[in-house]
Amino acid sequence: MKGLVLSGGAGSRLRPITYTGAKQLVPVANRPILFFVIDNLVGAGIVDIGVVISPETGSEVRAALGDGSRWNAKFSYIVQERPAGLAHAVLVARDFLGSDDFCMYLGDNLIGSPIRPAVEAFAARPEVSASVMLKEVPNPRAFGVAVLDASGRIAQLIEKPEHPPSNLALVGVYLFRSASVFSAISEIKPSPRGELEITDTLARILARGEIVHHDIVTSWWLDTGKKDDLLLANETVLDAWAVAEVRGVVDGASRVTGRVSIAEGAVVERSTIRGPVVIGAGARVVDSNIGPFTSIGPEVTVLRSGIDRSVLMEGCLVEDIARLEDSLLGRRVRVRPGDARAGAIVLLVGDDCLIEFARTS
Ligand code: DAU
Repeated sequence: MKGLVLSGGAGSRLRPITYTGAKQLVPVANRPILFFVIDNLVGAGIVDIGVVISPETGSEVRAALGDGSRWNAKFSYIVQERPAGLAHAVLVARDFLGSDDFCMYLGDNLIGSPIRPAVEAFAARPEVSASVMLKEVPNPRAFGVAVLDASGRIAQLIEKPEHPPSNLALVGVYLFRSASVFSAISEIKPSPRGELEITDTLARILARGEIVHHDIVTSWWLDTGKKDDLLLANETVLDAWAVAEVRGVVDGASRVTGRVSIAEGAVVERSTIRGPVVIGAGARVVDSNIGPFTSIGPEVTVLRSGIDRSVLMEGCLVEDIARLEDSLLGRRVRVRPGDARAGAIVLLVGDDCLIEFARTS
């Protein structure tokens, strides 16, 4: 079986972070989301993997993933000229996929459980045309939604319905047989949002009387599309997978509790770190309180500040900020007091940034 990882798209909901980088490379617990995706595919024995990339962020994705040797896998890169939909991405990958069965995995989806059982079950049942994963969510309108019939089989699949008939969302991991999926895609039209939808493709497969199997995901599942989702993903991944591992230097005046991972070359001085927290290589934390649920990226400097439930990407500086929380800082962002007049703030921020501070009244 082959793998198809979707790492193109526009990333518009995660702006401004995605103006300068691929959303699938935004770090969760200091690792690009895409790495967790590859881990899960490789863990299921899928090592021949096509990665769909966009012209804008493709080179960054290639640089981060490489040729696959880090995972003992083989990656082939497939450029999708425009984000014309998940089924369009499958069409673009036609030469790579050939006539093989494949697992399509959305590059911004994080799942708390291995996909291996679903992959093995699909391989063992040739009469099943496609297999999907479903998860109950509180906000089904944001997803593809499945309706089950009385016997528990999928009766209907709808993409982002305005009035969701159920709260079972389609998770971004799909198993397909090439002949079946390509034939179904040839029969669908672009949706109202102008995309060739994979949900419509699955609905077509169902309508032709083919079997679409489903599994209910019982672990956590997160789509990291927006800032709050991303922070929740960071919190969930840290909670589930963070390990206590101090490779950097922590001085005697600091207190480190819980699962805290401090990379080599990082320095912690006169600070309190409450796990789960990860601190990247070359970071400096001085006279500060960090955590819980915080990822401090490589080469970040935190001086005399308090930070919790946040992600600070590479090279940030936070200085004399009593409390920074629920924040996502892109690369090399600096937050610090300056020469502003009393009561004023001075900003230099790019497009689509969000700045929130406590109301004074
Ligand atoms: O996350 C699960 C949801 O993913 C499903 O419930 C929906 O049924 C499915 O349509 C999809 O919805 P999204 O609107 O969240 O998809 P998004 O546009 O965010 O794209 C998902 C991933 O695929 C993302 O990593 C970008 C990539 N992509 C997207 C498009 C539209 C591509 O590589 N090419 C594309 O043309």
